[in-house]
Amino acid sequence: MKVAVFGLGYVGTVTAAGLASRGHEVVGVDVDAMKVEAICRGESPVVEPGIGVLVHDAVAAGLLQATTDARLAVEGADVSLICVGTPSSARGDTDLTYIRRAVEDVRDAMEVATPPAGGFHTVVIRSTVPPGTCAGVVAPVFSSGGLPEGWSVATAMCPEFLREGCGVEDFFAPPFVVVGTEDTRAHEALGAMFAFLGQDVHHVDLGTAESLKYACNAFHAVKVTFANEMGRVFSTFGVDGRRVMEIFSEDRKLNVSPAYLRPGFAFGGSCLPKDLRALQSMARTNGVEIPMVGSALISNEVVVRSVVDRVLQTGYRSVCLVGLSFKMDTDDLRESPNLELAERFVGKGLDVRIYDPIVNPDRLVGANLRHLQSKLAHVNRLLAATPEEAVEGAEVFIISSSDKDALRAVVAASPKLVIDLHGRLGADIEQLAGYAGVSW
Ligand SMILES: NC(=O)c1ccc[n+]([C@@H]2O[C@H](COP(=O)([O-])OP(=O)(O)OC[C@H]3O[C@@H](n4cnc5c(N)ncnc54)[C@H](O)[C@@H]3O)[C@@H](O)[C@H]2O)c1
Repeated sequence: MKVAVFGLGYVGTVTAAGLASRGHEVVGVDVDAMKVEAICRGESPVVEPGIGVLVHDAVAAGLLQATTDARLAVEGADVSLICVGTPSSARGDTDLTYIRRAVEDVRDAMEVATPPAGGFHTVVIRSTVPPGTCAGVVAPVFSSGGLPEGWSVATAMCPEFLREGCGVEDFFAPPFVVVGTEDTRAHEALGAMFAFLGQDVHHVDLGTAESLKYACNAFHAVKVTFANEMGRVFSTFGVDGRRVMEIFSEDRKLNVSPAYLRPGFAFGGSCLPKDLRALQSMARTNGVEIPMVGSALISNEVVVRSVVDRVLQTGYRSVCLVGLSFKMDTDDLRESPNLELAERFVGKGLDVRIYDPIVNPDRLVGANLRHLQSKLAHVNRLLAATPEEAVEGAEVFIISSSDKDALRAVVAASPKLVIDLHGRLGADIEQLAGYAGVSW
């Protein structure tokens, strides 16, 4: 394919040389003449292991050129890859000045450049940009009414996941290949362009592709911070945090795994809140600050409060909670955020009914029943024995259990508002008119 690469920094140079090394015809564009001249001499404008040879060989093979003139790059090109910088503005938001300028350069170049055979061109954002940028900033520049004769354009987002220092290696072995676009032809074109990677392509919408890179970078930063905070607390006890985290990382079931990585409701139970408080106390006692781990409980409280506020704002007065324990398949109510919800709704004078297939007055026995009757008598009064009894007259449903009988009863009750705390309740619930995910 014929590819124009805008921006010859770390991402652009690796991308341009990488694509050229796999047979694509690439023309790189940069406003910085020194970078362009470097490529023209067969040298890389950035330092990265392996990039020198890659650029040299691609230029020698006639598959990589560079220019400051966007027209020469867009001439006959199937794809424009935008790899310009997206630095922080003084306020911390993403400065899209270079993105705007580069896509306008592509658009202006189309006035004089010959379109590719068939006239179809995909403008791909490779830089890291906030969700909404491709649809709101990039696509309008190429809105079909104003395009020069012979050109039709689709917009796509293909985030780059390379790390500096091993950029070339990462380019050829990315964690995933993501193509965000609403356009089938663009999806096919980019699938073909990246075919040499031999990986399945995740075809997603623009916003998902734009968001993913931020999620990845935030998570990497959180991991580093977490390890540092653990190390700092434990070192005050004479414990070597390196050894703790080494063994920690061997747990591929919960620690280094997809576990706990789905958006949903607040955590709770008999261990997480208690042990977070204990860690905070250990840190405080020893004069160590752990702001990130310390703020997990605050963030958790925000999740609970947001659900309460959302319900109160509707003005509905009758709430049914489906699921009471902190997670399914347990009757443990210690620090259950669902219990917290019930108590706050009762405190606000709402009419509350609760159904939990396990925390059920008809099924509980022994100590658990005694605990419910004595310590949680106020909640015990709200518990319904059957789903039908619980949904009777309710306007708002807050669901954290996927119990089939309960979900069937919710659907039959024609709810005004359903707040899904679970995330995998299935189409029958998600298609209800009043459905809302807790954070999606
Ligand atoms: N550096 C990384 O490791 C990395 C990894 C993944 C994603 N990203 C993202 O990729 C993007 C680029 O990062 P980078 O580190 O390669 O940036 P960089 O600053 O190294 O390079 C950007 C280049 O774009 C050029 N440029 C600016 N406006 C232009 C225009 N109108 N036309 C042509 N060229 C223009 C600049 O002269 C510069 O050479 C950023 O959004 C960044 O967040 C970076």
